[in-house]
Amino acid sequence: MAKKFITNSEDHPIKHIGFIMDGNGRWAKKRGMPREYGHKFGAETFKKVMEHCCNLGIKATTFYVFSTENWKRPQKEVDSIMKLLDRYLDDCKKELDEYDLRFIFLGDKSVFPDGLRNKMIEIERLSSQHKYIVNLALNYGGRDEIVYAVNKLYADGKERITEDDISSALYTSESPDLDLIVRTGGDLRISNFLLWQSAYAELYFTDKLWPDFNTDDVDAAIENFLNRKRRFGGV
Ligand code: IPE
Ligand code: IPE
Ligand code: MG
Repeated sequence: MAKKFITNSEDHPIKHIGFIMDGNGRWAKKRGMPREYGHKFGAETFKKVMEHCCNLGIKATTFYVFSTENWKRPQKEVDSIMKLLDRYLDDCKKELDEYDLRFIFLGDKSVFPDGLRNKMIEIERLSSQHKYIVNLALNYGGRDEIVYAVNKLYADGKERITEDDISSALYTSESPDLDLIVRTGGDLRISNFLLWQSAYAELYFTDKLWPDFNTDDVDAAIENFLNRKRRFGGV
């Protein structure tokens, strides 16, 4: 089947972009609606942004969907996020071939109910040969990921661990280095997102709440990135 995405550039300067999708709750509150309403609209933004990034020819896009700390939220809100996710995992299957998407879930899947976990595993398997990596950070924490990587290396019998060893034991091992993190919602923090990978990533913050964020805003963030001078510690 013909690919729906027309890749603008096979060689986009951004190889890996990450989104901290923040502000769903405040967006709903402004409308006098429950927080769950914001997550529903946030899911629509996610789909549009994901399609756009793949369309631009960006090799890997990571979305912060649910952190290891987000379990602290009221059960009703957690349940609604899990329900949205479950529905999305059913819907996204038909797009995998069509859009050449490779889904990878970042985080410990063992905490999820069997049904949800099996859907994640199946989607990873079905899309494993596809081109555009979409990392969904779910039950994800940057610290948790580093501990996971080190334990994995330890279990493999590694005695001296290098930076490359850690990079390749992280959940993001299939993705290129992270170039840019975009956070919506106005807060100027990382909130445990891609801690290892963000060492030399550029950071872009916007006050826009995630459900209001759109593809023009992605373009603005990328343009801003392209005007930055990355030195990586050099001159
Ligand atoms: C981000 O929006 C979505 C998740 C963390 C799951 P929030 O739900 O954090 O929205 P705010 O920050 O409370 O507005
Ligand atoms: C970060 O947002 C996590 C996700 C976007 C999934 P939070 O809303 O959880 O972050 P804090 O609590 O403001 O740091
Ligand atoms: Mg938030």
